[in-house]
Amino acid sequence: MLDKITDQNHEEILHMINKVKWYHKYEIVPGVITPGQCPAFPKRLFKRMELPDDLSGLNILEIGSWDGPYSFELESRGANVVAIDIHDPSTTGFNTAKKILNSNVQYIRTSVYDLSDYFDEQFDIVIFAGVFYHLKHPMLAFEQISNVLKTTGTLFFEGECFAHYAENTEGKKIRNYLLLIMLAHSKIPATLFYSDSFQNDKNNWYIPNVECLTEWLKTAGFTKIRICSNLGNTFIGDGRSKFIRKFILSIYHFLFKQGQRVIGSAVKMDGVVKIEHGIIEK
Ligand SMILES: C[S@@+](CC[C@H](N)C(=O)[O-])C[C@H]1O[C@@H](n2cnc3c(N)ncnc32)[C@H](O)[C@@H]1O
Repeated sequence: MLDKITDQNHEEILHMINKVKWYHKYEIVPGVITPGQCPAFPKRLFKRMELPDDLSGLNILEIGSWDGPYSFELESRGANVVAIDIHDPSTTGFNTAKKILNSNVQYIRTSVYDLSDYFDEQFDIVIFAGVFYHLKHPMLAFEQISNVLKTTGTLFFEGECFAHYAENTEGKKIRNYLLLIMLAHSKIPATLFYSDSFQNDKNNWYIPNVECLTEWLKTAGFTKIRICSNLGNTFIGDGRSKFIRKFILSIYHFLFKQGQRVIGSAVKMDGVVKIEHGIIEK
């Protein structure tokens, strides 16, 4: 990793950065921020996820890395990191950042759905931030992640969960808040699904409630499922948390416009992913 910034390489870095289009706005080296639209604070996210500062020797996969802020932070903590994304890394800024940081993160341009074509059960940790609600097949993605994690390996995820906001299929906000909050935090595993767009974004498909996300993870072979709201580490779900607690949090989120983001973790069980229909015994 780059450890000393001189005036000369500061200029060179700015020149390199300005040649590509960035998605994330992050401090790539001290005092230099990439000009993306989405602020990324890897240290803050990993603190909330309770990821250790020292990841020496661990094999970590980051899915949906885009231009890499999270992957490079993992590498700086001593991990062997593989990043995957569907984008071309030479146009997103990933390769530029890799060069600036003199990084060894390996980037593979592929989809989460195809992980088993590239990897065995080899990762200690998978980071899956900001992706599951952008997928048409989230269950398949979680199964693929399970296939490449070692038994007892941990998945850390972040994303949008249905907590207090929904739209109709024309994009109009639903105003029956009581109904929304009751459904979002009931024991009914329910998900929103939009064939066109949600929150004006055509890349949003499924927005599960916490109970539904928990069920997806269990089906994909995970246990010790822990889901927190985006308000620090406020614990909201393992499939058993109290409705009243989630309800109050939702009101808070709603009143203070906190959005519906969650972070969480889940541990891969020793066992197999459930198939859709078992063989019928005679
Ligand atoms: C909203 S961005 C999140 C970026 C970053 N992980 C974060 O949390 O800020 C979603 C990322 O997921 C990637 N992505 C979408 N579909 C994917 C797929 N099928 N397989 C792998 N990555 C995918 C996108 O290209 C994009 O980089």
